[in-house]
Amino acid sequence: MDSILVKDKHFVPFIKAEKLKEEVKRVAAEITHDYQGKKPLFLCILNGSFIFAADLIREVDLPCEISFVKMTSYQGTGTTGKVRELIGLNVDITDRHVIIVEDIVDTGITMAHMLETLKGHNPASVDICTLLTKPDKLQVQLDIRYCCLSIPNDFIVGYGLDYDGYGRNIKDIYVIEK
Ligand code: IMP
Ligand code: MG
Repeated sequence: MDSILVKDKHFVPFIKAEKLKEEVKRVAAEITHDYQGKKPLFLCILNGSFIFAADLIREVDLPCEISFVKMTSYQGTGTTGKVRELIGLNVDITDRHVIIVEDIVDTGITMAHMLETLKGHNPASVDICTLLTKPDKLQVQLDIRYCCLSIPNDFIVGYGLDYDGYGRNIKDIYVIEK
């Protein structure tokens, strides 16, 4: 298999860009259908979701806004278990229909932290939209309304996801070589 080197680890092909595109289109169509008559606010979690968010909202056929928050929980290939907020909420979400856009829900700690933060600002509704989930690693109860793909509990890079800051620009998703 065509293994690639990202920083100091080897990764092998896992999900092709074409497959991601298909799934992103499917989820965007679901959102367009479900949010008819509404003007959702997409709240994207940086850094990982920037590529997914860009592809997703261009497939959504609704009047909508996009904003960003920046959180971090990972170091290298593992979670620290703690969420640090690096850029906070800078839009008024009162009475807004918020769709959180995330690259991957792993333990769910980042998402739980996000939901807790948003609750205090009285949004009209909050839905979660994630490119990927690792269901075996989930530690908290989460209602994930939109999800492109579920994957096993292995570390991945590409399509916005990084290993120590590297690999976000890779078009396909790669998984760490065992
Ligand atoms: P959680 O708080 O454990 O759910 O972690 C979510 C965050 O960890 C995601 O937003 C990603 O940035 C990062 N993350 C989780 N799994 C991976 C992975 O396999 N590769 C790269 N980043 C990951
Ligand atoms: Mg992230």
